[in-house]
Amino acid sequence: MAIVSRVAFIHMKSLLARKPMSKLLEDVESEEGKHTLARVLGPWNLTSLGVGGIIGAGIFVLTGQAAAQYAGPAIVLSFIFSAISCAFAGLCYAEFASMIPRAGSAYTYAYATMGEFFAWIIGWDLVLEYLFGASTVAVGWSGYVVSFLRDFGVIIPPQFTAATGTPLICLPDAGWVHLTEAVRGHISARGLDLSTLLQANAIINLPAVLIVGVVTTLLVVGIKESAHFNNLIVFVKVAVILLFIAFGFFFVKTENWVPFVPPNTGDFGHFGWSGVLRGAGVIFFAYIGFDAVSTAAQESKNPQKDMPISILGSLAICTVLYILVSLVMTGLVKYTHLAVPDPIAVAVDAAGKGLFWFRPFVKIGAIAGLSSVILVLLLGQTRVFYSMSHDGLLPPGFSKVHHKFKTPYVTTIVTGLVAAVISGTFRIGELGELVSIGTLLAFIIVCLGVLILRYRHPEIPRAFRTPFLPYVPVLGVIVCLAQMAGLPGITWLRLIIWMGIGLLIYFLYSRRHSHIRND
Ligand code: ALA
Repeated sequence: MAIVSRVAFIHMKSLLARKPMSKLLEDVESEEGKHTLARVLGPWNLTSLGVGGIIGAGIFVLTGQAAAQYAGPAIVLSFIFSAISCAFAGLCYAEFASMIPRAGSAYTYAYATMGEFFAWIIGWDLVLEYLFGASTVAVGWSGYVVSFLRDFGVIIPPQFTAATGTPLICLPDAGWVHLTEAVRGHISARGLDLSTLLQANAIINLPAVLIVGVVTTLLVVGIKESAHFNNLIVFVKVAVILLFIAFGFFFVKTENWVPFVPPNTGDFGHFGWSGVLRGAGVIFFAYIGFDAVSTAAQESKNPQKDMPISILGSLAICTVLYILVSLVMTGLVKYTHLAVPDPIAVAVDAAGKGLFWFRPFVKIGAIAGLSSVILVLLLGQTRVFYSMSHDGLLPPGFSKVHHKFKTPYVTTIVTGLVAAVISGTFRIGELGELVSIGTLLAFIIVCLGVLILRYRHPEIPRAFRTPFLPYVPVLGVIVCLAQMAGLPGITWLRLIIWMGIGLLIYFLYSRRHSHIRND
């Protein structure tokens, strides 16, 4: 019995093997100058990466639905609440990223504070945020591109615009649409005979595959090139958003803001203050991405100073923009009309002739916006895999750096291929919530990690210190847990299944190849 418990204790201890801070910092230094990632990014590029990763499907797609179904004009308050919870996590990310300038982000922080097992869990969990997040946004990108091209008379055959096997039908007024139950109901309500309409099954979502391919190529060619491309598209999308706010403001009808918090319908989460909270949970997706800046820590020229500026700066910029956009949007059009996939375009239409010219720009802004999100999330994924491979938890190929491009090209190509397959063939409408739950879990680990390391290693110099300890990290954990609790049971089940797969890989491969164990 004593032997059994001793073996169990040793196993447990080895599962919780931590990577000492001194070793982490040594690793970073010893890698410098070899075939490794290039330190070329300054504060502007990093902040732009943050803004590039944040502004996307959340504001261009989800805001309208959250306003129409849950919060009404008070979606503005949902944006403020969600920003506060992100700020708690953002402050913790800023401390870690300035202290451990390594590419693995939350994975590396967990390795230093909670041990290998938790590090693996969080590394595997980040795949949900970055890889699945990028694939989800690629599908949204495809929708906007198809609609933009259609405005100019360019029609992509519908079989090539949706996930493999998706049933499609051609409606006389709306063209090709996904044949859902709602569409069936709409057809029979109009007295049309389903069998007389053209139908098809989708083969692949080609635009989604293409954008993932383009972004992957860019990421292989160089971090500087990727950052420059990102700067350009961030400029376009921020310009579109600022123009929407500036011009839209003149067409606002203040009666649309009344009542600002529509009364609760009797169901929890449908308007009233509970609706504001649910709205905050839904639009949390809109803030995902600021944490991806920390995965570029190993490519930052001066991570100690620039990481906190860019993580917190990008979060602050996007919060202000989101609040203003949602204010103008709900002022232009009654919130009940916003349950559409392109709420900003609908708001522009509602302003009448005065803003009609702006319509195509909204689509251009959305297309640009979504492309940079894909870029930043894929970048984040490759850097996490790079670090995991460097520690022996993934095969060595994943940390191979290209001698000329100085990018982890093998992991980038593998990640890009998987993202292309997912976005081209899977129906991933529901995956948005899986992305959110994965991200929230990462935020919790990072908040806990800051607390642990402050008590365990108070002596290590920290270029940025999370203020008001322990309140900020503790509040961060509570708020993120509360948002996780609000997500549906099926999302939890998917998370558990995903983690089960991760554990199999850990015990079959990673545990045996872990460098820290073998050392
Ligand atoms: N925040 C990113 C978006 O809204 C993920 O698309």
